[in-house]
Amino acid sequence: MYDKWLSDRSRKFDSSGIRKVFDLGAKLENPINLSIGQPDFDMPQPSKDAAIEAINAGKSGYTPTQGVKPLIDRLQANVDAEYNDPNRKVFVTSGTSGGLLLAALAFVNPGDEVILFDPYFVMYESLVKMVGATPVCIDTYPDFKYDLDKVAAAITPKTKMIIFNSPANPTGVVATREEVEGIAKLAADNEILLVSDEIYRCFSHGAFTSPAQFNPHTLVLDGFSKSHGMPGWRVGFAHGPAELIQTMLKFQQYTFVCAPHAAQWAALKSLDVDISEHVEAFRRKRDMLIEGLSDLYDLGNPVGAFYMFPKAPWGTASEFVEKAITKYKTLVIPGNVFSRRDECFRLSYAASVETIERGIDALRKLAKDPN
Ligand SMILES: Cc1ncc(COP(=O)(O)O)c(C=O)c1O
Repeated sequence: MYDKWLSDRSRKFDSSGIRKVFDLGAKLENPINLSIGQPDFDMPQPSKDAAIEAINAGKSGYTPTQGVKPLIDRLQANVDAEYNDPNRKVFVTSGTSGGLLLAALAFVNPGDEVILFDPYFVMYESLVKMVGATPVCIDTYPDFKYDLDKVAAAITPKTKMIIFNSPANPTGVVATREEVEGIAKLAADNEILLVSDEIYRCFSHGAFTSPAQFNPHTLVLDGFSKSHGMPGWRVGFAHGPAELIQTMLKFQQYTFVCAPHAAQWAALKSLDVDISEHVEAFRRKRDMLIEGLSDLYDLGNPVGAFYMFPKAPWGTASEFVEKAITKYKTLVIPGNVFSRRDECFRLSYAASVETIERGIDALRKLAKDPN
């Protein structure tokens, strides 16, 4: 009976394949967990203190739809300093995912096409399907670079949005300035909304460039989940042309209502915290993996975020990952979760140095142990 109650949109996508790896891993004792999509560091103590203070001060009511004023003011000042554009406005979302959902609801019609770069963050494809649109995936294998000719060729009269993510999940690739500028201009010239998911911006390990520098119509989504190790607090932010932001706020009003109140005060405090120690730690862990694996694995070009997307040295990615988990207790995610191809696997280095050392050891053995 329940089946007939499901909406058509419920049938258009499955739950994330990452869950399946977590379920398998839950049965293992002391696994080598390189599958985690969140920082391995705790949120800053001053942010926790700010949240506790907010709770004790009775800050439990709704906030304005756009967020608490001190947080908006700080975020807006940062955006003003970076873009110097009086029409670029910011508001607080329920995580970066909240911003993505509002953008899809506010700007994508059923039947529209949305350009994604394959491999992509898992949520993008499902989100596009959720609003009745068609994901158009641009294959970026084998080096995960952005080929502007392919982007231009993918644009049709139905193209409504391009979702761009640098530093990228799952590849760790950071787009070059030329690539970013090219995509920004293509979007502007074709009057397509460019959404730039900048959640890993602080973990760039090199120069970060936002397409909003070249295209003032770009909608930027960002958040505190990764930068400050607080994904469970659900605070993100969006900035873009005032008219687009107003429309997103209308949807926020009738969906999320506001980001969690105490969490917004924690996020405000986070803006004062220096995270360079964590950025450095990720860079060192990435280098450990490059040093420990690059003779046996093609690691792609991992520059930022805390991921790399190596090619499975034998078999399909699914076959390889199954053996990694069952024989070597090593949890990684098969690439077909993020891609139309089943060739690579996502390795997250948001893990302790000890776990990474064990992981290198296991992955070296696994590379030499084909089915
Ligand atoms: C590229 C990307 N965007 C957005 C998100 C969602 O972040 P949030 O926790 O802020 O919703 C993630 C989380 O893994 C991500 O990898």
